[in-house]
Amino acid sequence: MTSLPTSRTFPDDFLWGAATASYQIEGGATEGGRGPSIWDTFSHTPGKTLNGDTGDVAADHLHRMVDDVAMMKDLGLQAYRFSIAWPRIQPTGSGAANRAGLDFYSRLVDELRSHDIKPVATLYHWDLPQALEDAGGWPVRDTALRFEDYARLLATELGDRVDTWTTLNEPWCSAYLGYGSGVHAPGRTDGADALAAVHHLNLAHGLAGRAIREVVGDHAQLSVTLNLHVIRPDDPQRPEDLDAVRQIDALANRAFLEPMLDGRYPADLLQDTAALTDWSFVQDGDLETIAVPIDVLGINYYSTTRVRRHTEGGAVERADGHAPSAASAWPAADDVDFLRQPGPYTAMGWNIDPTGMTELLTSVSATYPHIPLMVTENGAAFVDEVSADGRVHDDLRVSYLVGHIDAVGQAREAGVDVRGYFVWSLMDNFEWAYGYDRRFGIVRIDYETLERTWKDSAYWYRELVRTRRLPSVESARDLS
Ligand code: FCB
Repeated sequence: MTSLPTSRTFPDDFLWGAATASYQIEGGATEGGRGPSIWDTFSHTPGKTLNGDTGDVAADHLHRMVDDVAMMKDLGLQAYRFSIAWPRIQPTGSGAANRAGLDFYSRLVDELRSHDIKPVATLYHWDLPQALEDAGGWPVRDTALRFEDYARLLATELGDRVDTWTTLNEPWCSAYLGYGSGVHAPGRTDGADALAAVHHLNLAHGLAGRAIREVVGDHAQLSVTLNLHVIRPDDPQRPEDLDAVRQIDALANRAFLEPMLDGRYPADLLQDTAALTDWSFVQDGDLETIAVPIDVLGINYYSTTRVRRHTEGGAVERADGHAPSAASAWPAADDVDFLRQPGPYTAMGWNIDPTGMTELLTSVSATYPHIPLMVTENGAAFVDEVSADGRVHDDLRVSYLVGHIDAVGQAREAGVDVRGYFVWSLMDNFEWAYGYDRRFGIVRIDYETLERTWKDSAYWYRELVRTRRLPSVESARDLS
């Protein structure tokens, strides 16, 4: 375990929060008129998730919301980033709003506000109504139009009671893992569909952003959360590897950043993917819509990516098939090898490299200096054990957080306008294809009893928020 500097301090207006997502914590999958989402279908399909786990019960947050918010208050959280399940609001993805669904989020928002915790609401964290997938899903344009209606319903209902509206969480995952590699719902594997999904997700962001603005004006902040990739060449001296970096950067980062922030698609992206699609799904006016002005850009960071241009006979050392860098996710990039990174690793097999956090924040801010940044997810899965004293001494998670939050501090020191940090996650939850096997929470969930137990990292995080100074890894065990 590394002991990192503990002198790092953060200003009073730096926002500390924790994040979750609807399908990962809520449970109550068929309650209150909720319709099925692609994740219900996917997780109930044999072989798609580890141990056949589903989000049917998850952390039972739907029934424990009031206690969970009280726990957030005890933790000292200043903001809570949650997502809204589209099929709770519109069970089939279109038409009138379902009152019971709206009421749940309305109560959540009021509960947060009454505890002085800022609600940061994400409209889409991957639970597409199944009916919309049956009609074609994200590769078809109509899904984006339906998303605009859904956004308008929510903005009208919750309006300025929400501090920040985030349109999408990680459209990279929705497009490339959902329609490219198929390791996420709906599990389709077609590169051209994945690229059409990229555009329709971008369009959904623009349409929803505009609708929210129309309804709430300047009374709430507008944002989107991207999982931007830090991509390193295997051999920085090898031009082919640098070109592989350029190609993956276009697919991973610029395919979202440029339409959203510059109103254009990168020319090299269109060229690289020309064998799969002519991008004729981009219609006149779309880019203008997508470039709706945002107030803050959310960034999720976990680990780095290393690539090499494949050469005949060269050893292929592909990264773990489920890792974010899984090769099969990337359309028209069969000749790029994704390499295993130097360790250490988390229980996801993701490499731990806090320098990537500083590098990412610094490079985004160099390109888009006028846009404030927010770290909307960062955290780690490790194998947690409950000790004889009843505590979970998750030193490795604390150490990960110390390193990465320090890295955020370094970016701030270098002049990057990063305004807050949300730990992923508030509590253990349904980690998508990995089910309940991978635990990211700072609060442990006992999936038998659904009891919540603070891990050492939760006490440590509370101390950080209270003092605004990074506590040492070693101190975590003694905090209570
Ligand atoms: C991100 C997702 C989040 C969680 C973390 C570990 O990609 O947004 O739901 O699964 O990874």
